[in-house]
Amino acid sequence: MSNQAELYHELLGQTKALISGESDIIANMANVSALLFERLADVNWIGFYRVINDELVLGPFQGKVACIRIPLGKGVCGTSAATGNTQRIDNVHNFDGHIACDASTNAELVIPLKVAGKVVAVLDLDSTVLGRFEEQDEQGILAIVQMFEQHLAA
Ligand code: SME
Repeated sequence: MSNQAELYHELLGQTKALISGESDIIANMANVSALLFERLADVNWIGFYRVINDELVLGPFQGKVACIRIPLGKGVCGTSAATGNTQRIDNVHNFDGHIACDASTNAELVIPLKVAGKVVAVLDLDSTVLGRFEEQDEQGILAIVQMFEQHLAA
C-alpha cells in the first residue's frame, strides 16, 4: 500500500471508531473535521455545511472563520449540494461563482453527504496549494463520507 493509501485506510478506521458509538450528527461532524484537519497535510480549512431550508449553513469545522450561509447552487459547496456530485477543483479562481471565504484558498474538494438519496450536508476541504487534491484524496474522503452516511442511515 502507498503511504497515501495507508493514511486513508487508517483514517477510515479512526472515523469508524469515533462515530460508531455516537448518534449526534453535530458531535460526529466536529470530531471528523478535527481528525482530518490534524492528519492531512496542506489543508487550511476542513468542515461541514448542512442543508437547511434550501441553504447551506456552516457546521462544525477547523480553520479560520468562514461564510455562514451559502445558497444552494452557489460556489463550489453550493454546486456540490445542488447537483449531488463531488467537486474537486485544482484552482478555485477558475471556478465560476467561487465564494472566497479565505482569499488564500486555491484548491477545494467538496463531497456531498446523502441520506436516503438526499444531500443533507457537504464536507469541504480547502488548501492553499494549487491542485492539492488528487484522485486518491477524493476516493479516501469519499469512503469516510460513505461510512458517515451508513451510520446516519442505520
Ligand atoms: N469556497 C467555498 C465556500 C466555503 S469556504 O471555502 C469555507 C465555495 O465556493 O463553496
